[in-house]
Amino acid sequence: MKEELQRLRAEAEQALAQISRADELEPFRVEYLGRKGRFTSLMRGLGQAPADQRPELGKLANEIKGRLEQAFDLRQEQLSGAEVEVVKFPDLSLPGRRHPAGADHPVTRVMTEVCAIFVGMGFAVVEGPDVETDFYNFEALNIPPHHPARAMHDTFYVGEGRLLRTHTSPMQIRAMEQARPPLRMIAPGKAYRCDSDITHTPMFHQVEGFLVDRKVTFADLKGVLSAFISRMFDGKTPIRFRPSFFPFTEPSAEVDIGCVICETKGCRVCKQTGWLEILGAGMIDPEVFAKVDYDPEQYSGFAFGLGIERVAMLRYGINDIRLFYENDLRFLRQF
Ligand code: PHE
Repeated sequence: MKEELQRLRAEAEQALAQISRADELEPFRVEYLGRKGRFTSLMRGLGQAPADQRPELGKLANEIKGRLEQAFDLRQEQLSGAEVEVVKFPDLSLPGRRHPAGADHPVTRVMTEVCAIFVGMGFAVVEGPDVETDFYNFEALNIPPHHPARAMHDTFYVGEGRLLRTHTSPMQIRAMEQARPPLRMIAPGKAYRCDSDITHTPMFHQVEGFLVDRKVTFADLKGVLSAFISRMFDGKTPIRFRPSFFPFTEPSAEVDIGCVICETKGCRVCKQTGWLEILGAGMIDPEVFAKVDYDPEQYSGFAFGLGIERVAMLRYGINDIRLFYENDLRFLRQF
């Protein structure tokens, strides 16, 4: 019995030493160490040994089994390590994996371009909060509570007298509060209105611009905006100034450019008019100057608000504003 145990041990050790691949480990374990393996069946014969030898034999058998199991675990560890290394070793002849290159979103691109044109005309860039107070968004812009113009703004209220700004015009007030004329500034940023169709999204971008100094006239407004539009659209697109109304400017105008989608023939995007409104503008109302303590007898100025998505649609011939915000890579990759 003793010899048989030693023989099995020697045989098993040799077999283990010859194993060179991880997939040979399991058959070995089953043959020698498994529940129906050779070691177990030898142990079953222990019952037949003379009673006085049984304790010694049992001890020996346990020792041998323990050692074999240890040796097996060690081998398993060595082989699994070796295998991982083989898998890990890179094939240097394979082509590398390409990372897709990102690019600016079309709205970002147009925003950057618009700002660059105004910066080129000497305008400074200022930014302010998306969450505004009623005072900056309405009150200081000559839109008192219950003024009918509030109905045009489909405002998102966020509680505690705060709201998501419905335009970037509150930045006129914030800037004028902090500085004295002459002022020449643009305020790019997001604006929010509860509105959604092919030409409106609940969040959109505007660039607000304003210029305040002595003797600023409507001719200055027209000159600056015409120069901007002609740079933005390569001087080819027709422009028209149309009388309009804003509580914070007087007189006011809206500026349209010829619909570049249908080339002024009339389509879904321009609602068959051949024209698209891209900005609102006007001479800053004396009531607004009063709110920031500017003397309207000394100073005058103009302001405008430009819709960036509109410009991007015209620039790239996109007929549905919602495409900008669906994150569809097939759309975005074209820019
Ligand atoms: N704030 C106006 C809007 O969002 C645009 C505007 C800005 C008009 C400045 C006049 C002067 O529609």
